[in-house]
This record gives sequence, C-alpha cells and structure tokens, in this order.
Amino acid sequence: ISLKEYNTFGIDAKAKHFASISSNDDLIKTLQLSEYPNRFILGGGSNMLLTKDIDALVMHINIKGINIISEYESSVLVKANAGENWHEFVLWCLQNNFGGIENLSLIPGNVGTAPIQNIGAYGVEVKDTIVSCEALEIATLKTKTFTNNECNFDYRNSVFKQELKGKYIITSVTFKLTKNNHVLRTQYGAITTELENMQVEAPTIQDISKAVIAIRESKLPNPKEIGNSGSFFKNPIIPIEDFNSLKLNFPEIPNYPVSTDSIKIPAGWLIEKAGFKGKRFGDYGVHKNQALVLVNYGNAKGSDILNLSKLIQETIKRIFNISIEAEVNII
Ligand code: EPU
Repeated sequence: ISLKEYNTFGIDAKAKHFASISSNDDLIKTLQLSEYPNRFILGGGSNMLLTKDIDALVMHINIKGINIISEYESSVLVKANAGENWHEFVLWCLQNNFGGIENLSLIPGNVGTAPIQNIGAYGVEVKDTIVSCEALEIATLKTKTFTNNECNFDYRNSVFKQELKGKYIITSVTFKLTKNNHVLRTQYGAITTELENMQVEAPTIQDISKAVIAIRESKLPNPKEIGNSGSFFKNPIIPIEDFNSLKLNFPEIPNYPVSTDSIKIPAGWLIEKAGFKGKRFGDYGVHKNQALVLVNYGNAKGSDILNLSKLIQETIKRIFNISIEAEVNII
C-alpha cells in the first residue's frame, strides 16, 4: 500500500505489508508473526523522510485512549496511549484545564513519538511534563516503564533515538499536568507579541494555546496542504569562539546562549542567509515563511528532498563553517 497518507511529507513510498495496531495485545500478536521478521514502526509519520519503499511489515501504532490515573490538590497524572494525535491530546488537556503542554499546540505527530525526539516549541519541551513512558521491548515482548530520567532527554533527543533506537515501541506516556496555579510560559518573544495582538491582559493556558496556533499557522505550512516535516534540521550549537569570529562577518546573527561556552544559532537564519528561503525546484523546495522547513508541493520524491538537504548542508558549511544536522529521520 502507499504510505502517502501516513507521512506528513506526503511521499508516495510503498509498504510491502501493513498492519494497523490498535491495542497492546495486537502489538504483541503482530510481533509474534514469524512470517514478517522485518518490521517498520510507524507513529504519526511527522518526523521522517521516506526515500525508498519499505520492504517490511509497516506497523502503524494506533493505540487510543486517554485516562486520568491520579489526581492531587494542584496536579494530575494523565496517561495517554501512543496512537493519540498529539494536538488532539493538547486540546483535551485544555478542555479539562490541565496545564503544561499548551505551548506545544499544533505540533504534528502522535503522543507515542513525542518523547523520542523530545518535541519542543516556544520555550517548552515535552520532557518538562513527562513522568514516564511505557514501552514494549521488541526482542523480549516485555513491557518496561522508563522514568523521565531513564529517557535521557536532551534537545530533540532521547535514549529512544540513541542506544535504544529500534529496540522499543512506546505504547503510552504519562504526564504530570497542573490543575490550577498554572505556570504560564510567555517569555518567548513571538508569544508576547501575539498575546498583545489578541489584547488579553491576564492570559490563560487556553490563550497561550491560541497564540501558539496563530504563530504556527502564520509561519509553518499545514502538512494537509503542503507536505513537510516541520524543522528539517536541528539548530546547531557551536563553541563561543566560533560564534565570536562569525560575528565579525555577520554582526546581526541571532543566537541563544546554551551554556557558558556554547551558543545555539537558528538554522533557519543560516539557510535564509545562504539564499535558500522560498526557493522552489519543481515539486519541492524551502518554505517561504520559515527556511528551516523543506516542503513537498505534490509529487516530490524523498530522494529529491534528501539531495536538497545535502546541498543546503554543504552550502552552510562553506559559508559559515557550521555543520547542520537533520532533525528528521531519513529512511
Ligand atoms: N530565522 C530566520 N529565517 C527563517 C527562520 C528563522 O532568520 O526563515 C531566525 C529568526 O531570527 C528567528 C529565529 O530564526 O527569530 C528563530 O525562528 P523560530 O522562532 O521560527 O524558531 P526556530 O529556531 O527556527 C525552533 C524549533 C521549532 C519550534 C520553534 C519555536 C528546532 C529545530 N525548531 O525553530 O520546532 O516550533 O523553535 O519554538 O528547534 C520542529 O522541531 O519541527 C519545529 C517546528
């Protein structure tokens, strides 16, 4: 079957076999099928670029369900199953007035894949609210609960992207959210400006979500209209000395301090400065409002987009002597 509807880049790669997994039981039974030894685990398909057909059993993790597992005076533990759509989960939390993930509104993908790359936006990372993740070990079919600490979260990174890559399937995630006295994260410039535009004086978590949605809709292409996987690259973190010498040539270079000796540079700025923003090559290109996003206008091949990403990497290396790394999984 075609995977075009199952990846937000809208790449028309084919799966040799396909199974939709709707329960933990299903998951175990399917992994026990000896006729399909090669598997490919698919979640929301929002962080991958398919460059070839998948010669395996594609297992689409579609396990649904959201449950409140404990309630306290000011917080609540909510367990969401891996197949829940991330943004719908955020909306569910907002309807219940549970705070903590409102800044992560409108991020494509599913709950189960959010921890893998520690999704983040507007001053919040999902790791800030995750208590634990339940996952099935493929080799043993045993369930393991990973505490937040065991997930080894970092900027767009976790143990599931490193040493345990391909070894576990996350089946549910448990979040600790606030019920009252919400901590509002409005320090990110774009949010402050948007809340001013909205003319709200005492913002609620629902207002923050609305602001984030407005910002994202203005900058990022809707994958239902133009195929994309959000930021294609990670923002590079470079040593302070390199930054200081770059600043001599590019005094306006935006930057965010990470530690005393390293600094994060927005890759979108580097790509724009290198002249790629809004460039279109046939059916693919670089988004006009956010240079960090590569797009598929219709029937681009994954390999076309991969080649464009390599050209961008080489150009950035040549101009700025900075290596930028793909954030999207290249398959
Ligand atoms: N910039 C440009 N030109 C561009 C894009 C960005 O000059 O075309 C510069 C501007 O100076 C701008 C700065 O980069 O102020 C930051 O841009 P933006 O706020 O759009 O954020 P970003 O660093 O490009 C990151 C995340 C996004 C997240 C936003 C908001 C990564 C790889 N990306 O992008 O996450 O939504 O911050 O917090 O960290 C994603 O991971 O898929 C994603 C969309």
